[in-house]
Amino acid sequence: MAEILVVDDESLIRDLITTSLGRLGHKLKACKSGPEALEAYENGRFDLVISDFKMPGMTGLEMAEKLIASDPSALIILMTAYGTIETAVKAMKVGVQDFIEKDVEKGFRVEMLEHTVSQVLQIGSLKSENRRLRETLGERYKFVGSSSVVDGLMKTIEEVASSNSTVMISGESGTGKELLAQAIHAKSRRSNLPFVKINCAAIPESLIESELFGHEKGAYTGAIKTRIGKFELANGGTLLLDEIGEMPLYAQSKLLRVLQEREITKIGGSDEIAIDVRIVCSTNRNLQEEVKKGTFREDLYYRLNVIPLEVPPLRERMADIEMLAQHFIGKYNKENGFTVTGIKPEALTRLKSHAWPGNVRELENVVQRAVVFAKAGEISVEHLRLDGGQKAPPGEAAAGLMPGMSVAEAERILIIKTLEACGDNRTKAAELLNISIRTLRNKLHEYKLQDP
Ligand SMILES: Nc1ncnc2c1ncn2[C@@H]1O[C@H](COP(=O)(O)OP(=O)(O)OP(=O)(O)O)[C@@H](O)[C@H]1O
Ligand SMILES: [Mg+2]
Repeated sequence: MAEILVVDDESLIRDLITTSLGRLGHKLKACKSGPEALEAYENGRFDLVISDFKMPGMTGLEMAEKLIASDPSALIILMTAYGTIETAVKAMKVGVQDFIEKDVEKGFRVEMLEHTVSQVLQIGSLKSENRRLRETLGERYKFVGSSSVVDGLMKTIEEVASSNSTVMISGESGTGKELLAQAIHAKSRRSNLPFVKINCAAIPESLIESELFGHEKGAYTGAIKTRIGKFELANGGTLLLDEIGEMPLYAQSKLLRVLQEREITKIGGSDEIAIDVRIVCSTNRNLQEEVKKGTFREDLYYRLNVIPLEVPPLRERMADIEMLAQHFIGKYNKENGFTVTGIKPEALTRLKSHAWPGNVRELENVVQRAVVFAKAGEISVEHLRLDGGQKAPPGEAAAGLMPGMSVAEAERILIIKTLEACGDNRTKAAELLNISIRTLRNKLHEYKLQDP
C-alpha cells in the first residue's frame, strides 16, 4: 500500500479521493494548494501525488514541474475537468505519469481513479526495481582502485559511457579489461539491454563470421538451423570484441563493413538487419605494431581506436593493491561465509613487493586463497603463500630476485626488504642502503611504495 498526497482546492474532491483510496488501504494526506503540497512533499515520503489541474495561484502543472525538478522519480497524476489534448501533452512532457478527467456533471468516477492509481503505482515500482537492479549491477562491475591511474580511467568512462563512441581497451592479461568494458556498459543508457562478448581468439577462423553475423539454415554444410549472430544478440546494447588483435583479416574486412553501414546480413541470407550496437574492443597486443606488420587493417584500426583506454599493469599502480585486496576479502568472505577483517601490514608489504605477472587476476587468486586459509581475523604473510606454500630459503631467492627482472624491480624489492628489516625506520634503511634519506624518499615515491 502506498502513501499518497492529494492536492485540490475543493474540499469535496479532497474528501472523495481520500475516502475512496483510504478504503483500499492507502495512506493519504490532503493539501489545499500547490505550495502547500510542495512543502508536504519535501518533508514527507510519498509514493504518489494526485493533483487538481486548475487551482488558484499555482496550477497543478506548475506544481508538477517544480516537484519533478526536485525529485525526478516523483509519480504524479493530474486531474482536470477541462481536459484538452494540449494540456495533456504539456503534462506528459513535464513528466506527469497520467491524467484523469474530472467529470463535473456526472460527478467523479471513482473506479477510474482507482484503476489509474493502481497502474501508476505498478509502473513506479517497476521503475524503482529497475533502478535498484541497475545500481547493484553498477556495484558488481565496480572497477576498484585508488591510484591516480584508476581515477583517470573512471573519469574518462563517466564521460564516454553515455555516448556511442567505440572504445578500445588495451592492457596486459588480467588487468581488468573485460571488467572495464562491463563498467562502461553498466554506466550507459544501454545498461538494461544486453552486454555480449565475443572472444576473437577462441573461435576458429572458419566460424568467426557466423559467430558475428549469424547464418541462415542451409547456408553451408553443417548449418542445420538458423543462427543468430552476436551483433544481432547485442542489438541495442554493447558488444565486446575481446582480443580483437586475433581477428583474421578476412573477418576484419567484414567487420569494417558493418561498422560503416550499421547493418548486417546473415551468411546465406538476403535481408539486411539494422544494427545499433556500441562497440568496445580489448587487446593485449600492440595493435599499431600489428598494423605495421600487416596483420591488422589500418582503416579498421582507426575506426575502432576512437576512445583509447589503457589499463596499466598492476606493478605500475601499487597504490591500488590495498583497496583491491580489501575488495577481494569482502567478495570471498561473502562467498564462503568467512569473517576475515583485513590484512596485516607485513602481509600488505609482501603483496606490494610481488611482481604480479598475472596482474589483478593473480592478486584475486592470492587473496582468495588467503581468505580461505585465514577464515577470520587478519590475513598474515603465511596465509598469502606467495612462495609456493613454503617459506623461501634465505638469500637471493628470499628477496625474489631472478634473471629476467629489471634493475628497477630488483631495486624496489631491495628497498622493501630493507624497510621490513628495519621495522619501517627510514633513517636506518637509508643508512643500510647507503643512500640519503632524500633519495630513499624519492625512490619510495617513484616505486609508489609510500602511502599517498
Ligand atoms: N580494478 C578491478 N577491480 C575489481 N576487480 C578487478 C579489477 N581488475 C580486475 N579485476 C578482476 O580480475 C579478474 C580479471 O579481470 P578481467 O577478466 O577483466 O581482465 P582482462 O584484462 O580481460 O584479462 P585477459 O586479458 O586475460 O582477458 C576478474 O575477476 C576481474 O573481476
Ligand atoms: Mg579479458
